[in-house]
Amino acid sequence: MATSQTHAPLGDLIDLRGKRALVTGGGKGIGAAISARLVEAGAIVTIADLDPAAAPEVERIGAELVVCDVAAADQLRNAADQAANNAGLDIVVNNAGIFPTTGPLTQVTDEFVHRMLDINVRAQFSATREAAVRMPNGGSIINLASIAALGGGANISAYAASKAAVIALTSASANELGRSGIRVNAIAPGVIDTPGVQDQMEPLRAGGIDIDARIAANPVGLRGLPDHIACAALFLASGLAEFISGHVLVVDGGSTA
Ligand SMILES: NC(=O)c1ccc[n+]([C@@H]2O[C@H](COP(=O)([O-])OP(=O)(O)OC[C@H]3O[C@@H](n4cnc5c(N)ncnc54)[C@H](O)[C@@H]3O)[C@@H](O)[C@H]2O)c1
Repeated sequence: MATSQTHAPLGDLIDLRGKRALVTGGGKGIGAAISARLVEAGAIVTIADLDPAAAPEVERIGAELVVCDVAAADQLRNAADQAANNAGLDIVVNNAGIFPTTGPLTQVTDEFVHRMLDINVRAQFSATREAAVRMPNGGSIINLASIAALGGGANISAYAASKAAVIALTSASANELGRSGIRVNAIAPGVIDTPGVQDQMEPLRAGGIDIDARIAANPVGLRGLPDHIACAALFLASGLAEFISGHVLVVDGGSTA
């Protein structure tokens, strides 16, 4: 039976000093914001990102960068080993993902679907496995899903399918890994202002979709920012969430309410 931290002082519950964390795709956007909050809480953070140009941002955050394509099994294993540093992992954030504009389902090729599922699902699956075998003292795995998996979208069929699979992976692995003291949860962000979304602005506008307007189209009336997701991730990684596993935390300013 795991030891409970209930009734511990609040400061202790969010104190991540000494915890080792791996954040995939943490070179910018949501992953960078999550990494920054984890560092602020005291964690030792390794960022696995495809892009070597992320180095200055990673240094600013106070994390370590491992240049890594999460879709390449050997690179992912190497990143997990570097993050664990022979001491094991406590927190893994499966954040790396792609969401290029696809257009109507009838025009989406099998090659495109294959690539989408390979990075957004298969690589998250592999990272969950690499995390689980490096968490001897239990831990917290956080998977980035999306409100796209919950309905309401058009022209995002492959992406929506990939993120629905992330939710199923979260549920199944929470059931399986709980007995090893590993909690697995997902965050389903609404539209968040990140470099990845900025890259989509023009192609989407050409298709009549104003994604910039959607960033603030929610009942709370705030622009969705990476730190909104980072605060949710910090909560799920912390002792505040010790009894939460298999959950999908929607963080969207109420846009799906
Ligand atoms: N921004 C949103 O509105 C939004 C909404 C819902 C879900 N999400 C999810 O949140 C996650 C992060 O999104 P974002 O908007 O911050 O993205 P982004 O494109 O701004 O940043 C993604 C980062 O991941 C890295 N990356 C991409 N492919 C990689 C790979 N194969 N291996 C390693 N690193 C890789 C990139 O280099 C980049 O640093 C994704 O999983 C995305 O699907 C985003």
